[in-house]
Amino acid sequence: MVLAMRHKESAYMHWAKTQSRARYNLATSGVGAFPLHELPLDAAGLEICAENGYGYGPLTEAIARRHETYAECVVEAAGTSMANHLAMAALMEDGDEVLIEHPAYGPLVDAALYLGARIKRFARREECGYAVDPAEVRRALTRETRLIVLTNLHNPSSALIPEPVLREVGELARSVGARVLVDEVYLHAVYENTPGTAFHLGPEFVVTSSLTKVYGVSGLRCGWILAQPELAWRMRRLNDLFGATPVHPGEILSVAAFAHLEVLRERARRVVETDRTTLAAFLREQDEVSAPQTAWGTTCFLRLRRGNADAFLERLRQEFETSAVPGRFFEMPDHIRIGMGVNAEMFSEGVRRLGRALAE
Ligand SMILES: Cc1ncc(COP(=O)(O)O)c(C=O)c1O
Repeated sequence: MVLAMRHKESAYMHWAKTQSRARYNLATSGVGAFPLHELPLDAAGLEICAENGYGYGPLTEAIARRHETYAECVVEAAGTSMANHLAMAALMEDGDEVLIEHPAYGPLVDAALYLGARIKRFARREECGYAVDPAEVRRALTRETRLIVLTNLHNPSSALIPEPVLREVGELARSVGARVLVDEVYLHAVYENTPGTAFHLGPEFVVTSSLTKVYGVSGLRCGWILAQPELAWRMRRLNDLFGATPVHPGEILSVAAFAHLEVLRERARRVVETDRTTLAAFLREQDEVSAPQTAWGTTCFLRLRRGNADAFLERLRQEFETSAVPGRFFEMPDHIRIGMGVNAEMFSEGVRRLGRALAE
């Protein structure tokens, strides 16, 4: 008997780790690094080991406070990456039907494939600004659907899902006994009237996030899942097979980050907003690319009028020392994703070079 090999890699992550960098790097998704020396921290409190087997109290409490919930609903995870993997692994069995948005952040699809999901897609259409349309979700939904997967903000486009739409998706999920996994890693890049977490919209909602994209402390790998207490406990037990125990110095630094979260966010916000103004001016002048624009978020998804992003990006890198993410990683090969919030001078020069490459 020949057994099918499981999907065991992420083409996007491999590309991001090995090929995304350039002098003018527009292939980012999160903000620039927040330096450790600017983080108020009592070094005497740093320790290597602690009783943190199923989470470190001060950290799970800080995460819970931030989301107006209880520590028993918080599961620590190594970044949103492990949070997504752990959440999916706890919520589905081999062969289960999982609905995932399209276009999607590749590793979400990769993790579901690895776990043996039968994946169905629902479209977030470019012409509708990549909005989630509950009618599309309903079309894909069956009695067998176990999980619906969304990103809010959407990666790659930064589209925001309004609360009434999330509620509709929640009702659809409830009608077949499924859950909704909402990856909110970019949600706090909505700087004005920041929406609350979808976790409070009903027991079918499970939410993942981290401090990586909006706060500039990705190296802490401070991620989490919000889930109902019984489910959260099952996830902690399952994590005994994955990460087992968190890195304690990282937990202490994460508690310090939580104590100054608005300082971290505001520092990055200035760069994100400068970059957004630069991008808006660029897009106004350009007819070689088009993109739904948002007033928030750190990424924008551009359609190339003349198609084939791969050849274009190769030239952009070779001749203009500039990188952006190929749309094929979001299953849209005519597109490129660019990121804001790292360094305003670099962004502005990168975008200028992008314009020159498009003009040639
Ligand atoms: C939608 C989404 N989820 C999760 C991640 C991974 O986040 P983390 O660095 O917290 O693991 C990313 C990174 O690009 C992302 O875009």
